Amino acid sequence: MIQVQNLSKSFQNVQAVNDISFTIKKGEIFGFLGPNGAGKSTTLNMMSTILKSDTGTIHIDGKNSIENSKECKHLIGVVPQEISLYEDLSAYDNLLFWGDLYGIPSKILKERIHTTLELIGLLDRKKDLIKTYSGGMKRRINIAAALLHHPKVLFMDEPTVGIDPQSRNHIFEVIETLNKQGITIVYTTHYMEEVERLCDRIAIIDSGKIIAQGTQSQLKELVQTKESIQFEFDFLSEANVNQLRKLLSYTMTQNKNKLLVESTVKELSNVITACNELQLSIKDIQLNKVNLEAIFLNLTGKQLRD
Ligand SMILES: Nc1ncnc2c1ncn2[C@@H]1O[C@H](COP(=O)(O)OP(=O)(O)OP(=O)(O)O)[C@@H](O)[C@H]1O
Ligand SMILES: [Mg+2]
Repeated sequence: MIQVQNLSKSFQNVQAVNDISFTIKKGEIFGFLGPNGAGKSTTLNMMSTILKSDTGTIHIDGKNSIENSKECKHLIGVVPQEISLYEDLSAYDNLLFWGDLYGIPSKILKERIHTTLELIGLLDRKKDLIKTYSGGMKRRINIAAALLHHPKVLFMDEPTVGIDPQSRNHIFEVIETLNKQGITIVYTTHYMEEVERLCDRIAIIDSGKIIAQGTQSQLKELVQTKESIQFEFDFLSEANVNQLRKLLSYTMTQNKNKLLVESTVKELSNVITACNELQLSIKDIQLNKVNLEAIFLNLTGKQLRD
């Protein structure tokens, strides 16, 4: 659906995007995960033809985004990082304004506003002024505005920043519904939980470079760290560890009363059963999962968030 090749963009002396290439398949939810200033918005803005690239090409549904910018604009819907709504207009009038910009005929537009407001769960608030909306509700209207012309691809730039968990879940549900309808979704965030929940494939971006991309399991294979469980016991002797080694085939490393077991969470019950058999009293259990945060740390030496 989208092919990006050797895309770069500099602002004065900042190289915001540095020679990135990737492909987004039709019907998938593709996530850009990266910290502040990584280049997510700059990438998305070039893909949505809002910003001109220095070098590189973008094809959307086989069309060059520069040579066929008008057609490309109709294929895509953009949910910008900053909310772009008129505070003194109602939700309905804001959507009328946006739909009009896309040249949607009045009768069709009214129907579409109705179905879109229904989809985002704000039909009953359509007459209220945007300034009376909560942050999460404004975000939802911002999404609605991007959907009126029935795009095939939706670009969403951090659509859940600064909103409560309930609105966030609502937005996730909307995204999943849209995706089921066949819309390809490109989603940026610095929350790894969001890409883990939503995305089929992920590009991890840092300092304008894609440092890894693939499905979650492909990304997990890139790093050496293994999933493990740390047990803390009231007391653990070397003899206890040897007894555990006879019962379990996992690699185990003892540190005083702590034991690091290289097993997955699914195998936790095996370890607990063995401990019970040996009457070892467990004080604490800590799961060390290989998540995207750990992958980011492993690849960049930095935390995703400060
Ligand atoms: N219009 C601009 N003028 C100058 N520098 C810019 C401009 N837009 C972006 N940059 C710089 O380019 C880099 C990438 O910014 P970008 O907004 O793409 O990051 P981001 O990943 O979206 O970050 P955030 O998570 O904070 O939204 C940053 O160093 C930023 O300061
Ligand atoms: Mg951004």
